[in-house]
Amino acid sequence: MINTAQEHFIEEKPHTEIKHKLFKAALDTSIAIANGINYSKKENKSYTYIDLYAGAGKFNDEHKGSPLLAINSFEKYSDTTKRSFANIQMVVAEKDAKNIECLTQNINEEKQNLSLNDLSCTFCNGSWETHSEMLKKHIKSSQWGFVFVDPFSLELDFNKLIELINESPYYKDILILINKSAQERILGKIDEPDINKLCDYFNITESNLKRMFDFVKSKGGSNETVIQHLIKRSISKLDKDYVINVAITRTRNGKLEDSNRFYLCLITSAIGVANSFLEKYAEELEDKTLKNNNMQLSLLNTSPITRYVSLEEQVIKILTKEDLTLFKLSQKMYNVFHSWKDSDGNAIPHRQALLTAINNLLNNRKIKLITPEKARLGCISNKTNKLLSQSLNTKEDAKSIKIGLI
Ligand SMILES: C[S@@+](CC[C@H](N)C(=O)[O-])C[C@H]1O[C@@H](n2cnc3c(N)ncnc32)[C@H](O)[C@@H]1O
Repeated sequence: MINTAQEHFIEEKPHTEIKHKLFKAALDTSIAIANGINYSKKENKSYTYIDLYAGAGKFNDEHKGSPLLAINSFEKYSDTTKRSFANIQMVVAEKDAKNIECLTQNINEEKQNLSLNDLSCTFCNGSWETHSEMLKKHIKSSQWGFVFVDPFSLELDFNKLIELINESPYYKDILILINKSAQERILGKIDEPDINKLCDYFNITESNLKRMFDFVKSKGGSNETVIQHLIKRSISKLDKDYVINVAITRTRNGKLEDSNRFYLCLITSAIGVANSFLEKYAEELEDKTLKNNNMQLSLLNTSPITRYVSLEEQVIKILTKEDLTLFKLSQKMYNVFHSWKDSDGNAIPHRQALLTAINNLLNNRKIKLITPEKARLGCISNKTNKLLSQSLNTKEDAKSIKIGLI
């Protein structure tokens, strides 16, 4: 175990870099939104960052791991004139003895380098489950927060995690790394004893898992479909607006493979956090497509008229069933499993992409705005009758707009 962990922290691999970019995008927006809302309400409620699988803090090649990246995100708020929070707290848990030693040293050094002496950091030595009562107190004690859950493989009991977060879930953003390849591998040998690990992870009995497996297979589904089912089932116990699963790949011989190995699952009720995460994912996919095309951009990929055709098709398909508010439509577009292997950046419905797709459809008279007079100020252009970016700024804005097919 010690060796695995130490080996992992020798260097940051390309797929880990992608994970860290997505993590930073979500965390930075999460803090900024909390800071902004505190200011607008003249409050100073505190923000807590919890890293349940914190690692060593740094890789031997000096790349920063999640706890140090988080500290760098907090630096901006060390200036109390830019910060509404009374304080920012950090709690890190690490099971491996060698890693927690490195982590403590790395965090203390980084705090010193950035002159963040008033940043409080609590270290949980050992598995986080043994500290769950203390973690629950931390979750409860601050309104705002972010929980990062980044196990290597199957070292998670989803129920225990949900129990922890459910202490005070509303204003917390959660990011979970799911090693779907490892899970699919175990599922592939459903009659072998290791299947218990999957049952423990998803809190399901062996007989129920086998029943679900047989049912999905009888409908032509794959092992991936079973895992997606299990993820949805576990997360449904959390009352949050957006659950976004983006697939990321792994590194093979120093290069990114074209495959879906992991899911990064973002659970949030903040439209802005969902948007930043999707924007960053689209950027990474565009980078992949560009590299695959020898850095050549296709005209179709860059034109605002043709770029988001697949998103337009999805919007039409969803609206065929019923008229929806922009909020409900965004939920349906966001709450899916996005593929690293089969998507390019144009298939990702971040704010600008979704609005361009909807405005193209309005232009081509495929869809219409229903009762536009009820839209909140600044959401629809008076001149063009098209949606403006503010329409996806907050949930209230998105709920004030209704769209239907013509
Ligand atoms: C993938 S690494 C974490 C990487 C880190 N989040 C980063 O971005 O740099 C997973 C870490 O979780 C630790 N770990 C495994 N099970 C754990 C548990 N139950 N509680 C706390 N830490 C655990 C492992 O020792 C390992 O260091």
